[in-house]
Amino acid sequence: MHVAIDGPSGAGKSTIARALARKLGLVYLDTGAMYRAVGLKALEQGLPLKEEAPLVEMLSRTRLEIVRRGDEQRILLDGQDVSERIRTPQVSMAASAVSTVGAVRRWLVAMQQALAEGQDVVMDGRDIGTKVLPDAEHKFFLTADDEVRARRRFDELRAKGQEVCYEDILSDLRARDLQDSTRAESPLVCAQDAITVDTSELNIDEVVLCLLALMGRA
Ligand code: DC
Repeated sequence: MHVAIDGPSGAGKSTIARALARKLGLVYLDTGAMYRAVGLKALEQGLPLKEEAPLVEMLSRTRLEIVRRGDEQRILLDGQDVSERIRTPQVSMAASAVSTVGAVRRWLVAMQQALAEGQDVVMDGRDIGTKVLPDAEHKFFLTADDEVRARRRFDELRAKGQEVCYEDILSDLRARDLQDSTRAESPLVCAQDAITVDTSELNIDEVVLCLLALMGRA
């Protein structure tokens, strides 16, 4: 079974996808982490984040691996675990920038499709229902008001001990929403056959229950 969960940043996709995967005994795959790892490497190498040629050259000497520890996903970039280092506001913006580049998307989409092949997965991202797994049995599009999403991201980063400012997070999130939904290659859109769920007024358990009910698994 393939379950596709798309939506803008901070709509709760990863938390919900992880919980859903655990309940259904499926593998969870966070595709945003893959764009983040590419963004991190491009940042560290000082590359222009939206230029195809230098990014293609960088990818030709890049090894990305997804490994599982228990039900946790870790991401290895050239053999190094970068799972924590990709979770900063700077890397979020870099991930969004490199994700506008067609060659980066093709490289990652091929990897994501290979990972899903022959496996039951819940995958979250921006183009899962439209591009990566167009034949997924279940497709959901999670949304929430931007201020609710910014507040969630702020609380999450603060809980991890990061010094962050709510206003900066809100403006980064709006900039990312705009960039992700207006890029030429696979912009963030709701797949025609996806069910939209607004999570603004719901907690995680309520969203998971709602999705399970929509899947006929409640
Ligand atoms: O889900 P996230 O916030 O970790 O994703 C980081 C960025 O990666 C996001 O701003 C856009 C990009 N992305 C994408 O273009 N396609 C995906 N399937 C997942 C993420």
